[in-house]
Amino acid sequence: MANYDVIVIGAGPGGYVCAIRCAQLGLKTAVVEGRDSLGGTCLNVGCIPSKALLHASHQLHEAEHNFAKMGLKGKSPSVDWKQMQAYKDEVIDGNTKGIEFLFKKNKIDWLKGWGSIPAAGQVKVGDELHEAKNIIIASGSEPSSLPGVEVDEKVVVTSTGALSLGKIPKKMVVIGAGVIGLELGSVYQRLGAEVTVIEFLDVITPGMDPEVQKTFQRILKKQGLKFVMGAAVQKTEATKTKAKVTYKLRKDDSEHVIDADAVLVATGRKPFSDGLGLEALGVEMTPRGQIKVGHDWQTNVPGIYAIGDVTEGPMLAHKAEDEGMAAAEQVAGKHGHVNYGVIPGVIYTWPEVANVGETEETLKEQGRAYKIGKFMFMGNGRAKANFAADGFVKILADKDTDRILGAHIIGPAAGDLIHEVCVAMEFGASAEDLALTCHAHPTYSEAVREAALACGAGPIHS
Ligand code: NAI
Repeated sequence: MANYDVIVIGAGPGGYVCAIRCAQLGLKTAVVEGRDSLGGTCLNVGCIPSKALLHASHQLHEAEHNFAKMGLKGKSPSVDWKQMQAYKDEVIDGNTKGIEFLFKKNKIDWLKGWGSIPAAGQVKVGDELHEAKNIIIASGSEPSSLPGVEVDEKVVVTSTGALSLGKIPKKMVVIGAGVIGLELGSVYQRLGAEVTVIEFLDVITPGMDPEVQKTFQRILKKQGLKFVMGAAVQKTEATKTKAKVTYKLRKDDSEHVIDADAVLVATGRKPFSDGLGLEALGVEMTPRGQIKVGHDWQTNVPGIYAIGDVTEGPMLAHKAEDEGMAAAEQVAGKHGHVNYGVIPGVIYTWPEVANVGETEETLKEQGRAYKIGKFMFMGNGRAKANFAADGFVKILADKDTDRILGAHIIGPAAGDLIHEVCVAMEFGASAEDLALTCHAHPTYSEAVREAALACGAGPIHS
């Protein structure tokens, strides 16, 4: 039996970051992970592999649509799916091995296997029992199931199966126009599949700024994605190579059937805490199966903490990472903190979509007076040169104090641009502070400055 200051359960972005910070703070730390490689869903079957496929398929899209315009002539590249998969696997391998290196560097033990908590202060992995003063649960999430839809991870797949389909489908149905559905739907559409997205609501990416939703859907349609909106999927029937998807339109209850070679179920994820033994321990849960934690990420059982997707809040790797660092600080007797008001969200399609802070809807609900500064990428020289002028930056600021309350970006590098607004918000900046900051020319970030200018004196290039 080994004794630890901290045992972290789960080596996803929440868990591994937490473990590294614990070790840096001088705590003897181990991580329990049952997968063959570290990094959790994000590195193995989520964020990282999907970004590899998004990158590769975007390059193809550029070759097919923009190369000739720039005087780059010749046949467009053809897709070698096996090689693209090998590239993706190499990216995964490089990243997961990187975490192994960081564990060794920080003297963190990897306890291989699936862990359970027989009692506070104890973690069981296989037949071995380990003792720890603190246990931090970072067990993540798994895809939610949909009644009538049986996932086989070959024809009817979750995001996991969708990353390694046997071949590029001719026809693909995506259930759910959320982040996963649109990212992976984009990948296969660019690789040549006819992709139909079936969405229950009348809008895509629920919760996002309505102007962004509209622009985003228009751009995706222009790229070739088809949408069936306001439709509830009833069932799928699959053979070894094909599937039928039955859905009902909410407006008239009419039933429709659509054929596909692959069906991606992307209707959300749910917290994963199976086998940990939380019920026997009396750990308090929310009705949605999330572990309840206090401001210090401690559960109602002293010494047991939880972070990331298995707790409340957005299921985002970077939210989990921040909680991981903060929980480590707490366990080490310091003061960890996460500002939940400034957590960016990004969709890595082309163009990218990013947001942070309040939306107009949430501000209206709060009865707060706000102003809008908006700038179209059409007025940004760099975006025009790069065939990336579709989209805009929208900044919301307090009407009286000018303090930045939120930002919504659809356009090139939106996922990077959003961070200057995040930093500004962390410092309590006004839109004028951003507008008075010199931005290099020609950069996409000038569009952020122009949107900030639009909150006050007005933009220059529109
Ligand atoms: P989501 O919650 O983003 O979207 C699910 C969509 O499915 C919603 O639009 C919903 O209205 C629709 N839907 C639900 N039931 C339906 C039905 N029966 N028929 C048709 N449509 C239906 O969930 P998603 O895309 O699966 O992502 C899961 C989680 O993973 C999210 O919390 C997301 O934030 C996270 N994630 C984040 C990424 C990023 O930050 N880039 C990438 C991938 C996942």
